[in-house]
Amino acid sequence: MNASHNNSPADPNAATLSATDPDTQASAPLDAELTAPRTTHIRSFVHRRGHITLGQREALETLLDKWSLDYAPKGLDVDAAFGRAAPVILEIGFGMGETTAKIALARPSDNFLGVEVFNAGVGALLKRIEEHTISNIRIIQHDAVEVVRDMLAPNSLAGVHIYFPDPWPKKRHHKRRLIQPPFIALLASRLAPGGYIHCATDWEHYAQQMLEVLSGEPLLQNTAADYAPRPAYRPQTKFETRGLRLGHGVWDLIFTRKA
Ligand SMILES: C[S@@+](CC[C@H](N)C(=O)[O-])C[C@H]1O[C@@H](n2cnc3c(N)ncnc32)[C@H](O)[C@@H]1O
Repeated sequence: MNASHNNSPADPNAATLSATDPDTQASAPLDAELTAPRTTHIRSFVHRRGHITLGQREALETLLDKWSLDYAPKGLDVDAAFGRAAPVILEIGFGMGETTAKIALARPSDNFLGVEVFNAGVGALLKRIEEHTISNIRIIQHDAVEVVRDMLAPNSLAGVHIYFPDPWPKKRHHKRRLIQPPFIALLASRLAPGGYIHCATDWEHYAQQMLEVLSGEPLLQNTAADYAPRPAYRPQTKFETRGLRLGHGVWDLIFTRKA
């Protein structure tokens, strides 16, 4: 099994999914899906009974209003949400938010909009925001597909980060993978000209799919011949470090929006 996903509480990919899978039936009170409108697209996540620490639960209860924005099917005033006008980087599926916090601290002149559905992860990032006094992150706890489709204006994003998205390794689950042509076309339309999409994965098959899908989107151009070197702003995660030590590969892909 791939090292990056062994211990992730948000790891739906280790599970064999079925309509009767008790894990997929479980939901915590704050799960976004409970409040989400009915949807016609295939979700790239499932809600599972993941462990949440007391600190994460407390952060959700006390800090969610301070740092998060509600999903609503209408355009978001991003500058108002951050209290300033600055380039906006969307991060999809930030997990526990470790990378998000590090990048936001290292790039104080950018605004980071993190979208995640997983309660413990949202709680963990809320804690980091407070502990490190980070002011340039806002969170939306909702399906990123709907956030991008309904809330973000065309040509509005300076960048998109999608790091180690759920790989859905079984063939019958590939349809759940986030990086698919329709979603990448939607994301590309939200990028400002010159803006970038940066994906990373440690699953070779998914890396190939990412390369094919991103290369096939007419609005995008690759910044490398195929895979890009890991840029300095993306810190190496502990799972990634362990995976690399075990000989697993990691693939970064960075595409920019054509003018
Ligand atoms: C394998 S984890 C990777 C987390 C983190 N980016 C990292 O590198 O450690 C993928 C995350 O994406 C989230 N996710 C999957 N589909 C999503 C969607 N449509 N909208 C928001 N979050 C999503 C999952 O809940 C999970 O936390």
